[in-house]
Amino acid sequence: MDNEISKNQSKGASDLSNENTFKIVDGRKYHNENNSIYFLPSDNEEIDRLHLQHYMQKNIYQRNFFAPVEHLLKQEGAKVLDVGTGAGSWLFEMAADYPKAKFIGVDISPIHSSHIKPNNAEIIKGNVVERLPFDDNTFDYVFQRFLSPGIPENKWPFVINELVRVVRPGGFLEVLDCEYKASTMGPATTKILDAVFVMFQEFGLDPNVCYKLQNYLKENEQLHDVHCEIKKEIDTKDAEELYKLYSKNYVIATKGFKSKLMSIMKISNDEFDNLVEKMGEEYVKLKTFSPQVRVYAQKKTNYCDNLKFL
Ligand SMILES: C[S@@+](CC[C@H](N)C(=O)[O-])C[C@H]1O[C@@H](n2cnc3c(N)ncnc32)[C@H](O)[C@@H]1O
Repeated sequence: MDNEISKNQSKGASDLSNENTFKIVDGRKYHNENNSIYFLPSDNEEIDRLHLQHYMQKNIYQRNFFAPVEHLLKQEGAKVLDVGTGAGSWLFEMAADYPKAKFIGVDISPIHSSHIKPNNAEIIKGNVVERLPFDDNTFDYVFQRFLSPGIPENKWPFVINELVRVVRPGGFLEVLDCEYKASTMGPATTKILDAVFVMFQEFGLDPNVCYKLQNYLKENEQLHDVHCEIKKEIDTKDAEELYKLYSKNYVIATKGFKSKLMSIMKISNDEFDNLVEKMGEEYVKLKTFSPQVRVYAQKKTNYCDNLKFL
């Protein structure tokens, strides 16, 4: 790890489990950080789900990124940051694909397995809602996927500024997130997604943030060339199978915040389990898909030069 990145980081990946504090609720392990509202679990089951979700995403898009960074990633010492890296699924695959680049993952509650970590990847603890532990202009490419459950609505402008701050001039930023409703929803799905929507609002989160990402990037005067792509369905040739995986992923994820949903819907444990099972069936039958929005942009190279003339 070169000094430029490492000077702000205190712990290597293997030290992180000692640094994290957890709480156990209904047999699942959750992070216990005071400064985070993130409500999904931090345990082995969640690691498996995140890996499943990653490979599903990879198959849906047939690639891991859209920003035009391939040439940068092939350069010796290129630096990449994955914000909210989770199990490190995206990070580790990218690190293996681009061995000349250095990959850093940051997460409020890192839960990766160090046994599958490539040598050119590191994961450190950090909260994007506070200041990221990196100097300005450090990374060639910054990526963030599915962090809407961890970022309060009023913190998004700050978070986007943080992501932009750590990208170097000429480098790229890419953010992907999803909606929490879907176009075709069965009755069980509607009930559950309505409750998820309420849960987001109760936590001060923004369930519609994916549709605001493009504007956040456009409003940032250090960025230009903002692209936005919306995926509304799975359209690969193995879509049938992917919809089954998509359903499985959503069912497992939903069970991860069971107690909160049960209290919002005022239903019993058995009613919840039945409802989630029905939702899984509806997802497959109706090809339910929550739209995903991907935005990417480049940090201007001449931004500082322009400031000199103001
Ligand atoms: C849904 S998971 C997505 C993981 C990964 N980005 C992926 O796509 O596989 C969200 C991750 O963001 C992390 N997270 C939540 N709030 C965060 C915050 N404020 N700062 C950093 N990481 C956060 C969680 O701990 C979790 O690992």
